[in-house]
Amino acid sequence: MAITPAALQDALTQAAEVLKSQRIEGLFDTSPDRASRYRCEAAGLTLDFSKHQLDDDAWQALLTLSNTQALPAAFASLIGGEMINTSEHRPALHTLLRGTVSDQHPEKSEAVEDTLARMAVLVDSVHSGETTGSSGQPFADVVNLGIGGSDLGPRLVCGALQSEATPLKAHFVANIDPDDLDSTLASLDPETTLFVICSKSFSTEETLSNAERAMRWLQAGGIQGPAVGAHLIAVTTQVTKAGDWHIPPERCFPLWDWVGGRYSLWSAVGISIALALGWQSFQRLLDGAHSLDMHTHAASPADNLPMIMALLEFWQTHYLGADTHVVLPYSQRLAHLPDFLQQLTMESNGKRVSSSGEPLAYDTAPVLWGSAGTIGQHSYYQLLHQGTRSFSADIILPLRSGEGDRDARRALAAHALAQSRALMVGRTLEEARQLGAERGFDKSACRQFELPGNHSHSLVMMDAITPECLGALIAAYEHKTYFLAVLMGINPFDQWGVELGKIIAGQMQSVLSGTDSEFKIDPATLAAANAWRAANTD
Ligand code: F6P
Repeated sequence: MAITPAALQDALTQAAEVLKSQRIEGLFDTSPDRASRYRCEAAGLTLDFSKHQLDDDAWQALLTLSNTQALPAAFASLIGGEMINTSEHRPALHTLLRGTVSDQHPEKSEAVEDTLARMAVLVDSVHSGETTGSSGQPFADVVNLGIGGSDLGPRLVCGALQSEATPLKAHFVANIDPDDLDSTLASLDPETTLFVICSKSFSTEETLSNAERAMRWLQAGGIQGPAVGAHLIAVTTQVTKAGDWHIPPERCFPLWDWVGGRYSLWSAVGISIALALGWQSFQRLLDGAHSLDMHTHAASPADNLPMIMALLEFWQTHYLGADTHVVLPYSQRLAHLPDFLQQLTMESNGKRVSSSGEPLAYDTAPVLWGSAGTIGQHSYYQLLHQGTRSFSADIILPLRSGEGDRDARRALAAHALAQSRALMVGRTLEEARQLGAERGFDKSACRQFELPGNHSHSLVMMDAITPECLGALIAAYEHKTYFLAVLMGINPFDQWGVELGKIIAGQMQSVLSGTDSEFKIDPATLAAANAWRAANTD
């Protein structure tokens, strides 16, 4: 099965062959207005995609593809609540959580509104000091216990929008490794700590294990019996299960099966955001995502920011041979963005069969990686500039830089733009020879200074790291991921691949605790299990 309909396959393949041998700077020479034409603005974001190996023929073919593959209609199906999660027979209505086309879903919308209202009441009451810990002291810390989609989104947002606006400091614990919870709790006081047990399924081992340990920590701190409930909030589709933990009903917030875990930060999963940053910030985050939804719904493919992002990655991955996509936010506050995007894109689109189960003859999601600039410049950028791997990249640059040392902020922006330029221009052999000669290298050794450049990448500018821009940025990546799934013919809303490891982990627990000697495992795993047991017999 070809990834692209036959009529466009030849056009795109031929365009790629031509472009592979051309320099991106050369494309600026032949098309001087390229910087303004290959640019798209929406909801406080600007996507500059002029530094891609892309010309008008290829771009027109990609835009035709977006219509042939009915991307605009696919977006209408998403927000319209069609059963696009075919393997789980559900819609994927995360856009409704930010009010997008809510009139099309009156009942669900009422449930969303009701939950938001209940969240706002609790958040306000915690901030005002009306809702307190069991001893009457106001809360000072909120600890989110969740993993995957029940962790990464709120962690990203709280890291990006740190604020002094509320008395609460947010902490995130995801790992079943007790060091994660223990090191977080070490400086906290049980009397003033509020836990959010965040789990769509309320059956995830890591989260439940941490929640049990957190309860024991509260009890050890002198908070006994039902008083523990005053320190807990639950967010889940399994509200009854949360009740078994003695969490009062007004502290249990529902989630719905029509929201995928990695698309859930806009739901009550985001309550730690509202607690740490204030209700208004959470609302503004939703507003930013909603604006981006409306843009995506209304804009034609040529002006549609997430659709363009998807078409670019499709082009890079399937026609120009990129096998990784690196995300480089030039902002320490966006340091968690690559982690969040790893789950969003790789759990969604790391698939090997089509929505109908047909094996795919092409690669799906590229590996996504990255970290906050400038740190990577002193580690893996060497590979970007001189390695043999082919990649595409997003450099993310907030324009209004905010508070803090102005000179340092200018230097940060200079590095972002410098890297963007260096990735494009590289260093020619002639320049390398000249530099090498100046440094006393012989002619052949001078090639060590040569940098091929010509690395396609986008520059994603945000007006500033405001809740609105951040909401829009996250929504843009969500829709990009969905459009790519449509182009590749896969279902981005399930994740069957994660199940096997969980089943075997249960069996391995029995092996490690010595309760199951019947379980047949390979000799290598058995040897490692025996080594662990030997090291842990006390
Ligand atoms: O195991 C993967 C996964 O199911 C993710 O899709 C999800 O975000 C995460 O685990 C956590 O799941 P839950 O919110 O149900 O605890």
